[in-house]
Amino acid sequence: PAPGWTAEADVVVIGSGIAGLVAALRCRSRGRVLLVTKALLDAGSTRWAQGGIAAALAPDDTPAEHLADTLVAGVGLCDEAAVRALVTEGPEAVRGLIELGTAFDLAGDGGIALTREGGHHRRRIAHAGGDATGAEISRALRAELKDSGVEVIEHALVLDLLKDAAGRAAGITLHVMGEGQPGGVGAVRARAVVLATGGLGQVFSATTNPEVSTGDGVALALRAGAEATDLEFVQFHPTVLWLGDGVTGQQPLISEAVRGEGAHLVDHDGVRFMVGRHVLAELAPRDIVAKGIMNRMRETGASCMLLDGRHLGAAMWEKRFPNIMAACRHHGIDPVTEPIPVVPAAHYASGGVRTDLYGRTSVPGLYACGEVACTGVHGANRLASNSLLEGLVFAARISAALEHDLPGLATISADGPTGGANAADVAASDGFEVDEADEAQDSVHRMTAGSANASATGTGGAEPAPVGGERADGDGMAVASGEGRGGLLEPGMRAEIQRVMSSHVGVLRGADGLERAVRELAGLGAGGGRAEPGVEAWEVTNLYTVASAIAAAARRREETRGSHWREDFPERADGAWRGHLVTRLAGNTL
Ligand code: SIN
Repeated sequence: PAPGWTAEADVVVIGSGIAGLVAALRCRSRGRVLLVTKALLDAGSTRWAQGGIAAALAPDDTPAEHLADTLVAGVGLCDEAAVRALVTEGPEAVRGLIELGTAFDLAGDGGIALTREGGHHRRRIAHAGGDATGAEISRALRAELKDSGVEVIEHALVLDLLKDAAGRAAGITLHVMGEGQPGGVGAVRARAVVLATGGLGQVFSATTNPEVSTGDGVALALRAGAEATDLEFVQFHPTVLWLGDGVTGQQPLISEAVRGEGAHLVDHDGVRFMVGRHVLAELAPRDIVAKGIMNRMRETGASCMLLDGRHLGAAMWEKRFPNIMAACRHHGIDPVTEPIPVVPAAHYASGGVRTDLYGRTSVPGLYACGEVACTGVHGANRLASNSLLEGLVFAARISAALEHDLPGLATISADGPTGGANAADVAASDGFEVDEADEAQDSVHRMTAGSANASATGTGGAEPAPVGGERADGDGMAVASGEGRGGLLEPGMRAEIQRVMSSHVGVLRGADGLERAVRELAGLGAGGGRAEPGVEAWEVTNLYTVASAIAAAARRREETRGSHWREDFPERADGAWRGHLVTRLAGNTL
């Protein structure tokens, strides 16, 4: 649909988790800021963040130690400069949150109470409300936003990027739902677009992520010709409450902080199976704990493992984990008197839209921060509680970049963006190119063309073709359009995409399953692409784009590293694979 209305801003920020809110607040000084968000301001993942926000705040801690722990968790793929920025700017950024009114929990001496989580050798996790850290940070930032002059549009699903004749980001198209809002599809013209759309956990059937985490930002960026990287590194949180086999959707998280305060992982015979598997036992980096749980489940044939926190005592549960305790009790488990059944579930995308240290993507004028971005701080496996910190630090860095970048951006003509992609132009999104960026050689070389179905899914209206089965190099997908012209998948495909991803691209991966995932996803695209435009069809098409990209990258990486666990390649292969897979849509006509 052609945009029915137009708005203008200097900077449009998409998303309202910690990254989006901080980006909007910090960019105020750069000009007129519009923040658009898909549901309500606090509907994203930030408000669900329990454990906390990591920073070297303790007298016995240093950014250098935080850096070291982050690099170890990232298994050789972190960008050290990005991590350095994170850990050195982190403490000040957290103090900034306190100045804004964030009420972190305090220790007996009046200082900030700090806990531990997996992979941290120090107590450096600040928390609020016991286990409601994200909700408190979100509250404080939203309060600050109120009279800030930032305009807000809620219930607005972003569709596609607008570009000017020079190929720079020039705004977005979006679909707005709800009373009192400009309705339907519209366009916002802006000099800079900041993606802060959060995660993509909903590509899997069981996830800690809320409903809104459908990978919209990564899908948009790929359609716009931007690069994404490290997509194969989807982190599975070791401990969500097990609600029974086959239960789908957002699952209750049992924070790592519960282990940080002393709870033990045990099997059904009471054996602490993480002891001896890693020197940090239950507090090993989370990929190791997730693998430990999966392995023990396989060894014993059990559907879940148990998290035993009975010895923490009722007072500790009430003070530190009131929400987790309430969630468990809601599901009939009392953690004070019985162990909690737990399993891993999809939790966090360590990869995302590739950025530099200032949030710049490979498309000029398009920036990204928070979970949607791959700044390089997480590598193959994010360290616990580094995500809120990353959103905070790198959103602020985008504001600094805009001071430098904005004067150089092309002025948007009064007639609107020209020659670029508006919603009606974005139709030919085909296969993927997955390149291996070899850090050691500082070069990027193409591994595959990946555009097997380019001609079949172009604007000519031909049927999308299945790939993968017939073409060894076809990691492709059939449809990834943000628009309805033969490019939108049926909303009903959501569950099928999730099933394919959870069955074959989950915690444990292997060539056969990954081949199957690529083939089945291609098959899903082959039969679809004709849905009526609408929020569910746009979302499911985004899920499909992102799922296909993750499956392609996971199939390509033939080693085990961080959260990418290949049964058929169980070892880390530093010689061949200490580099990044860079994904972009092939045959992209933008
Ligand atoms: C948790 O509380 O365990 C989640 C923390 C995180 O994902 O960083």
